[in-house]
Amino acid sequence: MTDPVHSNPDGQAVIDSPRDEPPADLTYFAFAPSEKPEPARVVTSAGLSAMPDILANRYRIERLLGAGGMGAVYRARDLLAEQYGDPDPYVALKVLNPDFVESPDASAVLYSEFCLTRYLRHDNVLRVHGFHVDTLCQRAFITMELMRGLTLDKLLCERPLGLPWKELREIVVPLLDALAYAHARGVVHGDIKPSNIMLSEEGVRLFDFGLGRAEEGVLSSLPHLSRERFNAWTPGYAAPELLEHHSLTARADIYAVACVIYELASGKHPFRHLPSTQARDEHLDCGLRVPACLPNPCWPALQTALAFDAGARAITAGQMRHAFASPSSWPWVGKIPKPW
Ligand SMILES: Nc1ncnc2c1ncn2[C@@H]1O[C@H](COP(=O)(O)OP(=O)(O)O)[C@@H](O)[C@H]1O
Ligand SMILES: [Mg+2]
Repeated sequence: MTDPVHSNPDGQAVIDSPRDEPPADLTYFAFAPSEKPEPARVVTSAGLSAMPDILANRYRIERLLGAGGMGAVYRARDLLAEQYGDPDPYVALKVLNPDFVESPDASAVLYSEFCLTRYLRHDNVLRVHGFHVDTLCQRAFITMELMRGLTLDKLLCERPLGLPWKELREIVVPLLDALAYAHARGVVHGDIKPSNIMLSEEGVRLFDFGLGRAEEGVLSSLPHLSRERFNAWTPGYAAPELLEHHSLTARADIYAVACVIYELASGKHPFRHLPSTQARDEHLDCGLRVPACLPNPCWPALQTALAFDAGARAITAGQMRHAFASPSSWPWVGKIPKPW
């Protein structure tokens, strides 16, 4: 082995940099090896490259966290954050499913989800970091905070009889707070259901605004996308007007969140997970029972929110929050107003 310290012809000391160690370069470009050819990528039947181990030369995919109708979410390590010494360089990373990505506006839907979520800064709304594109494998993706905890669908599997009042309230109040805030900012979620709500180590988080919409005049530069085309509503939580092709409004979120609250309180979906149109036609609302754990004053609020008719669903997320946060001060204590 030759001595790395030697003299040049002028007699000055020169130190050779070790050949097999890359120079320390704490810039983004350190992760973009330009001289090495990219290994050949496997192409799927959808024309996409298979998920590589590292996206955009920066995010190392570690494992699948969950998948829904549109996307798959992975735990990933942010190599840049790690190189800068971040003790927690982990993120969640969402890509579109290969079968969904073929739809014409698929990446725009993902971008819209990113913008709607970023627009909402609330403790109980998931925080997104960035929207990126890996040009080599032609995938767009979102990076976001990695939530550690349980989605409500998993919580419901563990608690088939529902939650006692105190626990219920600790989830429902922040959830309604997040929803009231989103509606006040002019954003409708469009897909509230247990698998889109996480009880994380840092509290309740509402996420997956992929079917969401901003009201007229809010985020107006976003492309207008018709979600109906994707036929992605979840029948058991989508209000009848959505299943009947009317446009999405905050009242649809109210129906969906009321189904989730009823389910958390009793362990059972109010209408056996049936599409709301079928539940309406079978008059299943007539047989609804008050969940045992629910203080009386919360019931009129919940029952109103569960109305099949959007016109009769005359309650806001803020009013529901108020009913659940301080049931004793709710004006309809002990009686169920009809109609409301
Ligand atoms: N930031 C996150 N941290 C941890 N897990 C997540 C995160 N985002 C989503 N997940 C998991 O991935 C699942 C699917 O994510 P979601 O955004 O709802 O995709 P889709 O639009 O396909 O429904 C969720 O139900 C949850 O289990
Ligand atoms: Mg989802």
